[in-house]
Amino acid sequence: MQTVEAIAPLREQVAAWRRAGECIGFVPTMGNLHGGHLALVDEARARSDRVVASIFVNPTQFGPDEDYENYPRTWEADCAALEAHGTDLVFAPAVDAIYPEGPQLRTRVDVPALNAILCGASRPGHFTGVATVVTKLLNIVQPDLAVFGRKDYQQLMVIRQLVADLSLPVEIVGGAIAREPSGLAMSSRNAYLTQAQRARAPALYATLQDLADRLLAGDHRLGRLIDQAKQQLINAGLEPDYLEIRRADDLTPAGAGDQSLIIPAAVYLGRARLIDNIPVSLP
Ligand code: PAJ
Repeated sequence: MQTVEAIAPLREQVAAWRRAGECIGFVPTMGNLHGGHLALVDEARARSDRVVASIFVNPTQFGPDEDYENYPRTWEADCAALEAHGTDLVFAPAVDAIYPEGPQLRTRVDVPALNAILCGASRPGHFTGVATVVTKLLNIVQPDLAVFGRKDYQQLMVIRQLVADLSLPVEIVGGAIAREPSGLAMSSRNAYLTQAQRARAPALYATLQDLADRLLAGDHRLGRLIDQAKQQLINAGLEPDYLEIRRADDLTPAGAGDQSLIIPAAVYLGRARLIDNIPVSLP
């Protein structure tokens, strides 16, 4: 496995693979890799001849009071795991390589309809940072396909939309959510949980499952279902940020007759903010 920090040699390697007729799959990450990230690498591996992963803790997607400085950085373990999963190349740029003019975003990519809702409402500017860095990474690597987790469902929607709207020549693949045996979605930020908080955290997914079951059982009083689910989170010791029933294709509020739904939620628990979601297809 090669490790590359600069853009020019990365482009040379990818161009050489492409000349040899090989197809390139890409998995962008911020490192501190867990089973969820590695499942995306496996997905890319299964669909392409060469796999490129990036590790870049992107400063422009963190708010001023967020955990950019303290975000867990575990370079050696990450490289060992990527190599074990058949990664051909790790792109690990310094902040200067991605933002030579500084991280204040002279040019930015915005997806306004998705920017200000759900996670975007609680994290102003977050999706602009994500959309801009992902656009840059896709332009730098120029993969045939890129894999993103459905755990960050809103992020996946933002990326699908910018790829469509900016006519980027890449296929976006959504990878399944990897969970702990308890049901808790794997996340680098789970490391912030104390043992007692870790015992409470699975209530997030359990609550989403209960709500999905009620919808599937024919209860369509959405406002009431949402209120009950939020109360269930509070009773379990989680502080809801949001919990909504949305249309799966564009994250607008679901109404009568919508069949393809997604229930996204975010909660605060100690130092962590946990997100999760569950899709529901009504008959
Ligand atoms: P990061 O949080 O490191 O996540 C990298 C990728 O792993 C994302 O596509 C995310 O959705 C996916 N992922 C994380 N936990 C997962 C889980 N439990 N199951 C499945 N997939 C999971 O998301 C980012 O980094 C950044 O915003 C990035 C896209 C790299 C841009 O900076």
